[in-house]
Amino acid sequence: MLNMRSSPVLKNFFSFLLLFVSFIFLSRCSINRFPKSVPSQEITGKFLILHMTDLHVSTKVTKPSSMPFTHKIRLFGYKFHRLDLYNSKRLLTKAVDLINNEIKPGLVLITGDIVHDKSDTEAYRWAFNELQKLNVPYVVVPGDHDIDKDGTKNKEQSWFKPGPFPVVYQKYKIIGLPPFPSDKDIDWLKSELDRSKEYEVIVCHHRMLKIPFIMKVFSKLSCPVRAPGAKKILRLLSQYDNIRLVLTGHSHTNYVSTHYVSGKKKIKYITTTSLAEYPFEIRLIWISDKDITTKVYSISR
Ligand SMILES: [Fe+2]
Repeated sequence: MLNMRSSPVLKNFFSFLLLFVSFIFLSRCSINRFPKSVPSQEITGKFLILHMTDLHVSTKVTKPSSMPFTHKIRLFGYKFHRLDLYNSKRLLTKAVDLINNEIKPGLVLITGDIVHDKSDTEAYRWAFNELQKLNVPYVVVPGDHDIDKDGTKNKEQSWFKPGPFPVVYQKYKIIGLPPFPSDKDIDWLKSELDRSKEYEVIVCHHRMLKIPFIMKVFSKLSCPVRAPGAKKILRLLSQYDNIRLVLTGHSHTNYVSTHYVSGKKKIKYITTTSLAEYPFEIRLIWISDKDITTKVYSISR
């Protein structure tokens, strides 16, 4: 009789089987497709925001990269990362086309890593030219792939607004933060929030502010996913009752967390995965006075 302890072959077989079954189950569960028609804001009676992030546009990669099946597995929403830089331009073109012709949101919010490589001048030009084709208003905040820690440094990086900034759109005030917010930026955020009581506030930032436990573990092993000063910013945001949404990217992972105060729903923290990474997702967010609902969709139909 075969003994598991004494049979490494059997042990490996069962490990492989478990991995394979997990892959089939998890990958089938985690890939969303567009429904035949995307409900428009007129139909739902809610304001529709489209969130996309981490476009990682590159003009330097000339060969397609292989994607091992391990990069399709998600555990607790977390997956191995493998950017498809070769197709990054095609993916953004497809997203812009879908947004303009099918989804037609009221607003597009983009939370950084527009380009993959800061030295790829052509990628900046190409990506912003493509974004200008959007038929709807859009706001972009930079990621750590876009600008250096000390802010705008060269001509290409001047595509981005330097430092934190506000944009008013209808009843919403969108507050964009730089990827490495300084104490001065956080002080600015406080004064801006004090001035924004009559608006519904949406904060856009590249790095995550709230992270799940599993990500805390992974980020200790690899690169930090949380924003510098995240705790300070979270404390500040929790003092205001007109903040509806905080949108982030950077971790290339989907994550939604609702922050409650005294049992009352307060702020939705939403992180969306990279457009340039399997399964190439964007996020729709329906927002009303009462609630916020959200769903991610793969654009690789
Ligand atoms: Fe990224």
